[in-house]
Amino acid sequence: MNTESLLKEFYKRYGETGGKPGIFFSPGRVNLIGEHTDYNGGYVFPCALSYGTYLAARITGTKSVKFASVNFYFTTEIPLGTLTKKVGSEWVNYPLGIIDEFNKVGIEVNQGIEFLFSGNVPNDSGLSSSASIETVTGFFINKVFGNSQLNLVELAKLCQRAENNFVGVNCGIMDQFAVSVEKVNHAIFLNCDTLDYELVPLKLEGLKIIISNTNKKRQLANSKYNERRGECEQAVENLNKARPVKNLGELSLSEFEEIANFISSDIVRKRARHVVSEDQRCVDAVDALKAENMVRFGELMNDSHDSLKDDYEVTGVELDTLVEEARKIEGVLGSRMTGAGFGGCTVSLVKEEAVDAFIEQVGKNYEQKTGLKPEFYVADVGDGVREL
Ligand code: GLA
Repeated sequence: MNTESLLKEFYKRYGETGGKPGIFFSPGRVNLIGEHTDYNGGYVFPCALSYGTYLAARITGTKSVKFASVNFYFTTEIPLGTLTKKVGSEWVNYPLGIIDEFNKVGIEVNQGIEFLFSGNVPNDSGLSSSASIETVTGFFINKVFGNSQLNLVELAKLCQRAENNFVGVNCGIMDQFAVSVEKVNHAIFLNCDTLDYELVPLKLEGLKIIISNTNKKRQLANSKYNERRGECEQAVENLNKARPVKNLGELSLSEFEEIANFISSDIVRKRARHVVSEDQRCVDAVDALKAENMVRFGELMNDSHDSLKDDYEVTGVELDTLVEEARKIEGVLGSRMTGAGFGGCTVSLVKEEAVDAFIEQVGKNYEQKTGLKPEFYVADVGDGVREL
């Protein structure tokens, strides 16, 4: 949906008399490498997509907030003063969570609003449709009710808190940070412990980033995600018997190997090994990109997937099949799952001339093996949240 048709839809639902709404956009993201490291104080390397969530929003003279989305049937109108109650498991909990967190920092939504959202990030694909709806809502409220007093980093942190506290998903900072702070044709190298970051130009001469969607529903994703977080906490607790460790991200691989036997459970030790090795891969991948060594970058992507499969165990048949089939195509430098896992998408680095063969052959073979029809997006790396 372009902004013109969003405006048209807005007027159809809410009428033209209240004036022209503001139009805002926040992207989805794809993480290139550095998976399940963010909540361990490690490094990540995501970039923003040109897909995302559009928002048309207008202040009204009324005492209630109206929520509607082009993507969902459910709409609601909630009186001011009761905006901090959850509504079942509806999509409106994302913008409501944002309003709730703004309240907590003293920025109150004290006038009526008409909201119309429209997203083109496939839901449940692991491309951060939730972070994009949170951030676009937050950007609007910050501007209109908060005089833009929060900077983009503060906004990202507030959006993460909304997802943790209101929606109830214990996610790290990567998604909200990436979709807020990103710049077109850059990826963001973020230290999730200090939040220091560097925008690194994505020089992809002759290469394309292909996102492949397993189209597998991620039912268990949230509970498994929280289980992995718990395992990492347990690892840190055990390692503290050997030396003070705040989080796994602070350990080099050799430091980890020296004290790994303090972790009593084999499974927990494997989880920790993934985190520590992935952190190093993320650093190495950024170095490889800067050195324009994309073959090395691709190898690190492959290693990342294998570690997520064998040590972290968050892939599953669908993601593994997509990756396996991708790696058979000549011209594929690397392929890995991206996001939380348990379904969702893979990201592959592919020579331009191999893109068509990739989509055709991976598509055919994946469907044959899993019975699911995949989808492919050739990614354009876009800007962070903004007013259009
Ligand atoms: C999800 C979470 C992120 C991050 C990734 C895994 O996308 O929202 O915070 O933990 O999974 O890297």
